[in-house]
Amino acid sequence: MKILILPDPAAAVARCVEIIAQTLNEKPQAVLGLATGGTMEPVYARLVERARAGEVAVDRMTSFNLDEYVGLPPEHSQSYHSYMRERLFGPLGLDPSRTHLPRGDAPDPAAEAARYDAAIAQAGGIDLQLLGIGGNGHIGFNEPSSSLASPTRVKTLTRATREANARFFGPDETVPRFAITMGIATILRSRHAVLLATGTKKATAVAAMAEGPLGARCPASALQMHPRATIVLDAEAAADLELRQYYETAHPEGQEVTLG
Ligand code: PGA
Repeated sequence: MKILILPDPAAAVARCVEIIAQTLNEKPQAVLGLATGGTMEPVYARLVERARAGEVAVDRMTSFNLDEYVGLPPEHSQSYHSYMRERLFGPLGLDPSRTHLPRGDAPDPAAEAARYDAAIAQAGGIDLQLLGIGGNGHIGFNEPSSSLASPTRVKTLTRATREANARFFGPDETVPRFAITMGIATILRSRHAVLLATGTKKATAVAAMAEGPLGARCPASALQMHPRATIVLDAEAAADLELRQYYETAHPEGQEVTLG
């Protein structure tokens, strides 16, 4: 794991966007794995700014999102289809045929999950997978106890996750109980995984992911097995890392150091 510690959330977001921009500028037809959640909102805002400034090529990319709530159609205001349309796909003017999310309203969610993994493989696999992390260590909606070899499938959300996400729903709406999520094996097949975490609420999960035992209690710890995982943190999210000084020596201010 490459652990990059930036001084504040804005710097961490900018570093994450820089990685996305580099990937797309090196390979404009790259397949991106995309994430939702509060952490990604400033990432997409900054990416849109950079695309409008002509600093990053987005027209030829293809994307696959991590997850979608079971039962929500794409038009539902709290669906991840809506989140992505509003924050990224619409502002970038992307061709909808290039952007993919699991269908939460599919009549057979298990079949939809299998179809989704097949579609990712058909597209040549994911070049860059963006990830957030839950306070409970989940990636995508792979909640604690998820098989570390799991394919895309239906998962039951934990109470903690439903409570954390209730802020996005209205007072009369209930957070769905199930989601279709890329599996941990799906995420581990990506050629580069970049996880962004900011704020104190993520510090415990980040330490468990990077320095704790590999195990289903912290699904993000599976990234220890990823051949190319980059973890982008702000100072607060990095606060519980025992080896922090080492990471800061290896990558001062979260930057690359050239050898020699
Ligand atoms: P957040 O969610 O960015 O809203 O904190 C991250 C996650 O649950 O994976």
